[in-house]
Amino acid sequence: MANEPLANVRAGYNQWAAIYDHDANPLQALEGPIIQAAIGDPAGLDALDLGCGTGRHALWLANNGATVTALDFSESMLAEAARKPGAEKVRFISHDLHLPLPLSEHFELVVSGLVLEHLHDLNHFFTEARRALRPGGRAVVSAMHPAMFLQGTQARFTDPVSGEIVKPGSVPHSVGEFVMAAVRAGFTPTNITELAPDANFATRFPRAAKYVGWPMLVVISLRA
Ligand SMILES: C[S@@+](CC[C@H](N)C(=O)[O-])C[C@H]1O[C@@H](n2cnc3c(N)ncnc32)[C@H](O)[C@@H]1O
Repeated sequence: MANEPLANVRAGYNQWAAIYDHDANPLQALEGPIIQAAIGDPAGLDALDLGCGTGRHALWLANNGATVTALDFSESMLAEAARKPGAEKVRFISHDLHLPLPLSEHFELVVSGLVLEHLHDLNHFFTEARRALRPGGRAVVSAMHPAMFLQGTQARFTDPVSGEIVKPGSVPHSVGEFVMAAVRAGFTPTNITELAPDANFATRFPRAAKYVGWPMLVVISLRA
């Protein structure tokens, strides 16, 4: 079955939620500043965060003046988000991104951080993101770089209680598949950044040491 590798994504993130913000994940550290720079000043924007998790981007947006709707299908990730300062300003919705978005309004900005590897249908994701935007709206989407899969790496965490390595489930899409799904949905790419950590970053995030000079992250900016 095409989506078999994704059968446990929700359960995996429900388990990951308790430590997601505290396990020194280098990908989040690498990604945060790039996403924020790609978005610019979010004040006054109507923004939609797809796969918001514990609210990293949704809360940054809301705490900097955006009006934010944020969707995720992991109740535990959403519960972590809801506990944080500024959460009262965000409309959180439990939703599976494989289904049509449960929204009738339109947004100026769609953000989605580190979610694409968990989706088997990129066409559906980008079509829904495009449909949610007003004319001239934009999207900023990040993903673990497909080159990470060549190193045998995918989203994973170590359960602090059992010591077990848990992989919620990932699909190794290529950068070309990300971009062409976005183009088919009616987006124009305006920037694509592929980012590798340097030695200085690796001293701060030791888990990145084996990836110095190797692409860990791709961030795609799109215009509707
Ligand atoms: C690596 S986390 C990223 C969370 C957040 N965007 C961030 O950057 O910190 C991936 C998130 O995608 C969510 N996710 C994965 N597949 C999903 C789906 N089909 N529908 C909704 N959310 C999904 C997971 O529950 C998880 O919260």
